[in-house]
Amino acid sequence: MAPNHKTFVFNDVAKHNKTKDCWVIIHGKVYDVTSFMEDHPGGSEVILASTGKDGTFDFENAGHSDEARELMPKYYIGEVDQSTVPAKHLVDMSAGNTAYTSEMSRQNVIRILQFMVAIMIFGLVYAVKA
Ligand code: HEM
Repeated sequence: MAPNHKTFVFNDVAKHNKTKDCWVIIHGKVYDVTSFMEDHPGGSEVILASTGKDGTFDFENAGHSDEARELMPKYYIGEVDQSTVPAKHLVDMSAGNTAYTSEMSRQNVIRILQFMVAIMIFGLVYAVKA
C-alpha cells in the first residue's frame, strides 16, 4: 500500500454511486470497485446499495472470505477523512460499540425466533401425525 495514499472527503466518495462509477468505503478505506461490479459474486446491486455511506457493516455482514479480502487491495484508492463522514454513517466495529452490537443482537434474536418457529412447525406436524 502506498504510504502517500490519497485522502477523500465523504461527499466526494458518495458521488460515485453508479454501476459504471462505483466507490465504497470499508473500514475507513476507499475502493473503486467499478471494474469489479460485473464480476462480484454477490452481484452489483448489493455493492451499489453500499455506496453513499460507510459500507463496512454491509461488507462484514455478508461474511466475506479471506479470498474476498485479498482482492481488496486491487481496488484500493485511498482513505476517507473520518471527520467528514456524517455521524449516522460512521461504523465503529470495535468491541462494545453499541450500535454495531445491537444490530448484531437484533439479528441473532431474529435467527432464534426463526429457529423456534421451525421447531414448532415440526412439533405440530408430528402431533398431527401421531
Ligand atoms: C472491495 C469490495 C468487495 C470485494 C472484493 C468483494 C468480494 C466478494 C467475493 C470474492 C465474494 C464471494 C464469496 C467470498 O469469497 O466471500 C463476495 C460475495 C458477496 N459479497 Fe462481496 N465484495 C466486496 C464488497 C461487497 C459489498 C460492499 C457488499 C454489500 C453488501 C457485498 C456483498 C456480498 C454478498 C451478499 C456476497 C454473497 C454472495 C452469495 O454467497 O451468494 N460485497 N464478495
